[in-house]
Amino acid sequence: MASLSLSSAHFSSSRSSVSTSSLSPSSPSLPLLRSPIRHRHRSLRRLTSFSVVPHRTSHSFSICNSQIRCSVAEPLKVMISGAPASGKGTQCELIVQKFGLVHISTGDLLRAEVSSGTDIGKRAKEFMNSGSLVPDEIVIAMVAGRLSREDAKERGWLLDGFPRSFAQAQSLEKLNVKPDIFLLLEVPDETLIERCVGRRLDPVTGKIYHIKNYPPESDEIKERLVTRPDDTEEKVKARLQIYKENSEAIISAYSDVMVKIDANRPKEVVFEETQTLLSQIQLKRMIKTDKASPVQDKWRGIPTKLNNIPHSRDIRAYFYEDVLQATIRSIKDGNSRLRVDINIPELNPEMDVYRIGTLMELVRALALSFTDDGKRVKVCVQGSMGEGALAGMPLQLAGTRKILEYMDWGDDETLGTFVKLGAIGGKEVDEEDDMFILVAPQNAVGNCIIDDLQAMTNAAGKRPVILINPRLKDLPASSGIMQTMGREQRLEYALTFDNCYVFRLLYYLGTQYPIIGALRMAYPYRYELYKRVTEENGKEKYVVISTYSERPTPEQINDAFSGKSREQSKKSSGFWGFLSSVLS
Ligand code: AP5
Repeated sequence: MASLSLSSAHFSSSRSSVSTSSLSPSSPSLPLLRSPIRHRHRSLRRLTSFSVVPHRTSHSFSICNSQIRCSVAEPLKVMISGAPASGKGTQCELIVQKFGLVHISTGDLLRAEVSSGTDIGKRAKEFMNSGSLVPDEIVIAMVAGRLSREDAKERGWLLDGFPRSFAQAQSLEKLNVKPDIFLLLEVPDETLIERCVGRRLDPVTGKIYHIKNYPPESDEIKERLVTRPDDTEEKVKARLQIYKENSEAIISAYSDVMVKIDANRPKEVVFEETQTLLSQIQLKRMIKTDKASPVQDKWRGIPTKLNNIPHSRDIRAYFYEDVLQATIRSIKDGNSRLRVDINIPELNPEMDVYRIGTLMELVRALALSFTDDGKRVKVCVQGSMGEGALAGMPLQLAGTRKILEYMDWGDDETLGTFVKLGAIGGKEVDEEDDMFILVAPQNAVGNCIIDDLQAMTNAAGKRPVILINPRLKDLPASSGIMQTMGREQRLEYALTFDNCYVFRLLYYLGTQYPIIGALRMAYPYRYELYKRVTEENGKEKYVVISTYSERPTPEQINDAFSGKSREQSKKSSGFWGFLSSVLS
């Protein structure tokens, strides 16, 4: 996974767009409507991009590079170790697929030399076939050369099977090569032998198979599989012995970054643990990198006291910036159907109608940041739906359009030029609009927003459409009017929007206190599950306890928190029920 974290002039300007509003801490939503302060980024934009009317080039969207400063976190450096057949190569395949690291396997490099008949290969062959270690000077030179190549520096590396002796570990120390993590795969001896003897390699793809555990996918592959000459029971035992003799010295060299992994489980299960460990390092690094950048110097992980509303200006700014960065990254990657789900008390108008002001403030921060890039943004709030006595609008959106009109959009001409307000529907899409931000589109009892939404996305084509806190699930409709489209199609359509930002607090069933944790996903990174812990000094903090490539299920979250099996969790009070209700 690319470890790219973005910070940009947008963020400083969006931060200023938030912080320069005369927001009163006691009532964050209303004073912003009257703020007379002009925004620094408005004048910036005029200086850099436009004079009177901006020129719109095409519907394709790109973030102007001059305005984005990329701070690329340092790439991952991983060592993987373990006895012969502990599954190093198998895990490496999966790690490379997921994290894009450069895989440096001394075994593979040596086998390549052997099959090419090079001098090194000729020298190494004898040692390898007998299961002993190839002389240090050969292997060290090979690894040092490979590590110094540009791709390894840029993408990070995954060192497999090296170092394997104390001298090799020392050579790395001299080169100042240190891993972020040293993964030690542990498997009982008898399993190792069975794995080695049953191992087969595909000479075409390099993929590792096992005649029983991981058989080939087709007869064609099966026919071309080869067995390694050192995979006989006798040689495996010799290799295992050599491994045991050397492992102590290696392990002690990396004990500070070593993580032991029970690798006597299916490869997918082992990988789930491995990738969580690597993601955590990436995440910490991303946070550090962001911390180092001027616009993020106040970043402090997830803010605390999130149940206390109104939130401070800093906390609001944190979330606006977090959402903005994820949205920019997603659009930059070419995504055009985006969904932001952020559920904190401050942004939940169902708890307190004044919170709609904060939601609008978020929308404003996003819209103004995109206008900084010269984009014309249409901010859309659904209008009344239905006919006659059934006409109406969801309560939480009542008055939203008016609030948007009265808000401070910076320079007088911003609203109406760079930012336009509209409703939701195909007719709302104009040629000059570059992107659309839709405020909490939702179904109302008896009325379905999806038809209008679909007409709008059809008209928008490839232009980004961003849904902020949509609620597209079915609502009961006695009139049946909601059934404008088949249920399946409606749900399918809702799924065409990719989550680019998710944040929600986790509580026990039926309560809003205490907060037990949080789930966060900021594109393109993984879902991060945090536990809220109270420190000795009484302060609270959020600690990452697990990460996931897909939105975790209630079972996964439950397991991560309690370590209990699903059955046990079901029996326990509150927790399971809560997670089911919130996350399903
Ligand atoms: P090398 O190729 O590195 O061999 P090794 O360390 O003995 O490790 P293996 O490749 O045998 O096993 P693996 O842990 O990668 O397991 P795999 O994923 O394939 O080195 C070969 C030789 O080169 C050495 O003996 C030495 O001579 C020389 N050499 C290399 N590096 C050197 C160095 N630094 N210094 C000096 N000499 C060096 O899995 C094994 C099997 O198990 C497969 O069939 C797989 O499908 C299966 N499997 C994997 N995971 C699972 C799982 N979770 N559950 C069930 N089955 C699994």
